[in-house]
Amino acid sequence: MGIGGVMKRFDLEALPMGVNDGKYAGSFTSTVKSIIKSVLQGSVLHLYSGSSFMGDERVDLAHPNATLNCKVEEFIGNDRREWDWCLLDPPYAISQKSKLRDYEEVGSLSGNVAWRRQIKEYLRHHVDNVLWLDFCAPTILGFGRQKLWLLLPGGFHTVRVLSWLKREMKPLIPRATADEMVEK
Ligand SMILES: C[S@@+](CC[C@H](N)C(=O)[O-])C[C@H]1O[C@@H](n2cnc3c(N)ncnc32)[C@H](O)[C@@H]1O
Repeated sequence: MGIGGVMKRFDLEALPMGVNDGKYAGSFTSTVKSIIKSVLQGSVLHLYSGSSFMGDERVDLAHPNATLNCKVEEFIGNDRREWDWCLLDPPYAISQKSKLRDYEEVGSLSGNVAWRRQIKEYLRHHVDNVLWLDFCAPTILGFGRQKLWLLLPGGFHTVRVLSWLKREMKPLIPRATADEMVEK
């Protein structure tokens, strides 16, 4: 139930997540890949792209499959293009640190308030649809949830959520500078 009693409806599907091929920590499983491929179209920006080849611009700190090796924080500070889609799979806290040995940087980004402000500000101004894989289901001002996929890894592993957020309205004020950003 939303504010003022308005029910916000979205599709919800729960399915087994499957396992990755073991070549790169945290890489999309074939189940996740096929969901992503079934919805993406038009121009696609992929942030934290790791080993994936999906997306026209793929940004990762160091993986050679990316089109751009740099920090996402830097990229979103400079990029002014418009995208039909942004796909993002930021690192989240994983208790087994050995799983992260391949990453240049580790730690959960969704727990980082400064990062959350920056990424949401960027997405509000430059992207029409967001596909966000995380262990939470983030929301962005001006976007509605279109569909959530609950990805069940089995055992005692953390459930992941793939959220499709769709733009409902354009931001009324121009993009803020990093200093002016306030989390909505
Ligand atoms: C969960 S993995 C993504 C894996 C990807 N979905 C795949 O199929 O291979 C997160 C990726 O983010 C990258 N990364 C971590 N911190 C970053 C940052 N600040 N800027 C850019 N990339 C970063 C890591 O190198 C890692 O490849």
